[in-house]
Amino acid sequence: MRKGEGTPLADLLASPAARGLEGRDYIETKDWSDEEIEVALALSARLKEMKRKGEPHRLLADKTLFMMFFDKSTRTRNSMEAGITQLGGHAHYLTEDTMQVSHGESPKDTGIILSSYGHGIAIRHDLIPGEGNRYMREIAEWSAAPVINLQCDIDHPCQTLADLMTLRERFGRDLRGRRIAVSWAYAPSYAKPTSVPQGLITLLPRFGCDVVLAHPKEFTLVPETMRAAEEFANRAGVRFEVTGDMDAAFAGADAVYPKSWGCLELMRRPEESLKLAASYKNWICDAKRLTRAKPAALYMHCLPADRGNEVTDEVIDGPQSVVYQEAENRLHTGKALMALTM
Ligand code: CP
Repeated sequence: MRKGEGTPLADLLASPAARGLEGRDYIETKDWSDEEIEVALALSARLKEMKRKGEPHRLLADKTLFMMFFDKSTRTRNSMEAGITQLGGHAHYLTEDTMQVSHGESPKDTGIILSSYGHGIAIRHDLIPGEGNRYMREIAEWSAAPVINLQCDIDHPCQTLADLMTLRERFGRDLRGRRIAVSWAYAPSYAKPTSVPQGLITLLPRFGCDVVLAHPKEFTLVPETMRAAEEFANRAGVRFEVTGDMDAAFAGADAVYPKSWGCLELMRRPEESLKLAASYKNWICDAKRLTRAKPAALYMHCLPADRGNEVTDEVIDGPQSVVYQEAENRLHTGKALMALTM
């Protein structure tokens, strides 16, 4: 039985760590202690079990979440919206173009007013370096309700919590000694944000994983997150390595997480970023490359994946792929985050 499974909901929510999360923002995983992340994982496991058994868990009856999206979404929007419905509450789906934000309304006014109507604000603002995290922190400064980051330019903490949950479901609670390869991969669809790899390298070392990051030289990550990843790895006594070689990163890995991201300097000129990325079309996760990892290594991706470019169908649809488990866990972790903070 996994930690959290079988535990009465009341016991999980009564712990001092859980009680301390009421009203708290969740903007980057580093804003929460290891113990607080553990509480969220335990509650996620319990909520997953309760949903499977059809047991009601209306922890947020009559509560309202305002979800502001500055970018598109399938998993994030629908896991949070379905999640709060299952918890007995309701979500409003708001987009930039339908809000007065598009006429320049300030984060202060937006935060004060929305939080006076409901119980939480969740925001996706991920495409432009230097904007999204700053915007949601400014909303949070004025909001009387907690703010949840649905992906910014720095972190995607809802995704990485679901990924950590998936790794534990597959490998057990103790991830020490597990080597996770987070790699850039080629995609022509759009210049994807850097927040997923940044979120992975800053969260996974805290929970015992050795992390190796691979990318072509132009596709670096935000320097502050690189420094944070090194610090977390040092503190946890695990390894954090960086390489320019996808094959070297895959060698001996327990899990590979190859995905595309844009060139930071070109995020305001995405066509140029995509043109540069096209020089690295050989950065694909195919069956041959996957054999460099351990025989039962997991293939992971936050989705959406550019099939045929980031990954072949053979791999993403193959027995080592856990992408649908990761996607499902977005629901359970999202519900836990809302239930704990709202
Ligand atoms: N992984 C993820 O965040 O998916 P969406 O962009 O569909 O929300």
